[in-house]
Amino acid sequence: MVEGKGEDVELIHLWSTPMSLSTSLLYSFAQRDDMEVLDEPLYPNFLRVTGVERPYREELLSKMESDGNKIVKEIIHGPGQKKYRFCKNMASQRVPDLTDELMRKGKHCVLIRNPIDILPSFDKVSPPSFMEMGYASLVSIYSELCELGKSPPIIDGALLQEDPEGTLRGLCEDLGIPFQAAMLKWEAGPKAFDGIWAPYCYKTTHKLTGFKSPSKYPAPFPPTLYNLLEQSLPFYNMLKHHVNRSGIISLQPKLPDPANEKLLVWVGNEIVPRESAKISVLDSVVQGGDAVWEGLRVYNGKIFKLGEHLDRLLDSAKALAFSNVPTPEQVKDAIFKTLLRNGMFDDTHIRLTLTRGKKVTSGMSPSLNLYGCTLIVLAEWKPPIYENEKGITLVTATTRRNSPNNLDSKIHHNNLLNNILAKIEGNNASADDAIMLDKDGYVSETNATNIFLVKKGRVATPHADYCLPGITRATVMDLVTKEGLVLQERNISLSEFHTADEVWTVGTIGELSPVVKIDGRTVGDGGVGPVTRRLRSAFEKLTAESGRRFVVIVLLSYSLLLKLSANCAEFD
Ligand SMILES: Cc1ncc(COP(=O)(O)O)c(C=O)c1O
Repeated sequence: MVEGKGEDVELIHLWSTPMSLSTSLLYSFAQRDDMEVLDEPLYPNFLRVTGVERPYREELLSKMESDGNKIVKEIIHGPGQKKYRFCKNMASQRVPDLTDELMRKGKHCVLIRNPIDILPSFDKVSPPSFMEMGYASLVSIYSELCELGKSPPIIDGALLQEDPEGTLRGLCEDLGIPFQAAMLKWEAGPKAFDGIWAPYCYKTTHKLTGFKSPSKYPAPFPPTLYNLLEQSLPFYNMLKHHVNRSGIISLQPKLPDPANEKLLVWVGNEIVPRESAKISVLDSVVQGGDAVWEGLRVYNGKIFKLGEHLDRLLDSAKALAFSNVPTPEQVKDAIFKTLLRNGMFDDTHIRLTLTRGKKVTSGMSPSLNLYGCTLIVLAEWKPPIYENEKGITLVTATTRRNSPNNLDSKIHHNNLLNNILAKIEGNNASADDAIMLDKDGYVSETNATNIFLVKKGRVATPHADYCLPGITRATVMDLVTKEGLVLQERNISLSEFHTADEVWTVGTIGELSPVVKIDGRTVGDGGVGPVTRRLRSAFEKLTAESGRRFVVIVLLSYSLLLKLSANCAEFD
């Protein structure tokens, strides 16, 4: 297109909440040699339709076009003199009777800012309302644009302040226009294209010659605006979630399994998307690691050893004197619903957590827990995590496993620091996990699993005095006996593990994992031994056959399965 032709100007709409640095962004775009700008052309229409009072209302309505559709046709989509036209809009000004041409034509971008920053500033001008803040309108504009296949880049005002150049470069890239360094600076004072309201609203902005640096200390937040903050935040957070994905910034680390990006998680008494799955800062698990947990695995539509896991969870809760504990039926119901909602029937690991619940104020005493327990069902696509075909390596940690003298390992609690310290030692030695000894130097377990050895055909595993009496451990002990092998449960020293013929670890997270090296010593011949192989196949057979079935898997199409899922019943 030829500059100055007076036609086919390329339109860039900015949709924003108030006090979000939209005027600074307007000034920034106005510095470009290929850009003309419009300052809120839809404002008069908004005042006319809503009747909102402003000191400049009459002046605005008398001097500017206030018929929304005429504004869109003649001003926003009117002929231009430059290649691009940047049109600043407040989301609230997108009132219902406007033509959908507004969304269909041109490019769009969205500017957001945390309501905790906006509300106090807005309040100084006039008392803010939810409608005028425009968060809900901004979400619906965003959704509509996505439906039109034009998902707009979203930028956050806070990022414009922190890193103006990086944010503008990213925005220009997303809009398909070259970045111009001129966008970073402008002259102070009023501008010819300012709206009529500028003397009332732009006093501070007029003092600036670039994006204002973030203030070091935030302003106090007035308690009178607390409700509005609570109403606006979910909308802001929804949009903020998409800032990261727009490519302008990427704070999100890569997930080990992208299939887990769209998880649905049970928290409290509802199922919510992964990003909304949060618990209170007053919850006991945050305050004191005061929670119990289980790891469970789903095989072929069945939950392995569900009854045993629920028994251990509720016994642990009883040992810790939790009150208002959900019934086993309620926990099962939450697990089944979560699995069905996620369509998870296999290759799934469930992290089940029961906390003592939320406290009325921070503090240690369980007497502050007046809300009842918090239940979390986190189901993820997660096959066994260890290298079970080739085997894993272990090192011995200096951190000792805690004894029943201080924190009884028979309680499956969330105070995992003892194990985490050992795991750090394992990580530092590039091992898969770390062996933990008891106070006398006998092997207890690893930081995450129970452990077995084979010497001259006899199988041995440590007493469950220091280690967790694992459900996989009990299952494998049973299989050892069923396979006609000799089983000993006894004190086992580290050198017995160093010189064993075979070693394996067991746990729900990794099933049965052959160990090929301990503290630099090769176990047996360094491969997977015959007893390990035998038990692994017996274990595989068992998981395929048994378990609590939670959904009827017949040869139904997935859609039919979903229809039925509401009615499906648990059976053995
Ligand atoms: C320290 C520890 N040992 C062993 C296990 C294995 O227990 P299970 O077989 O019941 O999964 C776990 C799992 O929670 C654990 O945390």
